[in-house]
Amino acid sequence: MEHLVSIRDITKDEIEKLINQALRIEKNPSEFVGRLKGKILATLFYEPSTRTRLSFESAMLRLGGNVLGFADAKISSVKKGESIADTIRMAASYSDIIVLRHFLEGSGRVATEFSDVPVISGGTGIQEHPSQALLDVYTIYKHFGRLSNLKVGLVGDLRYGRTIPSLLYTLAKFDNNVVYLFSPRELRVRMSVMNDIQNKLEVHIGEDLDKHIDKLDLIYVTRVQKERFPDEASYERVKDFYVIDKDTVSKAKDDFIILHPLPRVNEIAYEVDKTPYAKYFEQAKNGVWMRMALLLTLLEE
Ligand code: CP
Repeated sequence: MEHLVSIRDITKDEIEKLINQALRIEKNPSEFVGRLKGKILATLFYEPSTRTRLSFESAMLRLGGNVLGFADAKISSVKKGESIADTIRMAASYSDIIVLRHFLEGSGRVATEFSDVPVISGGTGIQEHPSQALLDVYTIYKHFGRLSNLKVGLVGDLRYGRTIPSLLYTLAKFDNNVVYLFSPRELRVRMSVMNDIQNKLEVHIGEDLDKHIDKLDLIYVTRVQKERFPDEASYERVKDFYVIDKDTVSKAKDDFIILHPLPRVNEIAYEVDKTPYAKYFEQAKNGVWMRMALLLTLLEE
């Protein structure tokens, strides 16, 4: 693996290796201290982030490396008109690996063309968020002990949420997974993504989560991505289409779990946080172990 800008670029075998490495790290983090001593991670974030940027930085610091970068492109020379190509060239000459979050589709791929160090997408427009998918399946694997034969409900903004294509592509690499896509009509998974998963996943499309929740192993809930909507009125129409509360999960299986890439707005009621189903904060924490595994894989192998 040279870069990670799409989860489609890596194999099932590579995903399993990353999961096993993350499990080893989580079990004994002290064993990995200093493994990336002298290495520098650049985090270039053109869009807001809490989890992705901080967990990548935490991962690098825990491995003994250092970090530099910007959390807001407005305080970089992007403000003066510098192109992404030139910014990437500079970051590549100051660091050993780059994490890039950018609003434009294709930006991750462009970055790899101008970088002579590995590039990881930290979220590319509405296109993909591959390291998020890795920590998502890590969390699923830790709970169920498998990534196949799962019934997964994806809920909410399936059109604009970039974690959705990455998770679908990942689930499609494993056998016999069934996905239920719950969203309002205008927020359904984009046709290009549907075409990519065709024949690789059994797919059901609908709106009524309550009717199907009893047969699901997990739901993956997403925020309605206000910032991607063409106008305020369209957002207002769908913003509270799903609000998962204790009543919603009352018919769920005993080992059912709820995931969410976060940040959460209204789509999961706070009362759910205290139930055994709520795994989203553990999921976010798992991001550190998985991103440590990813940094080690890209920089040591
Ligand atoms: N899950 C995720 O990408 O969160 P941030 O936007 O806070 O990085």
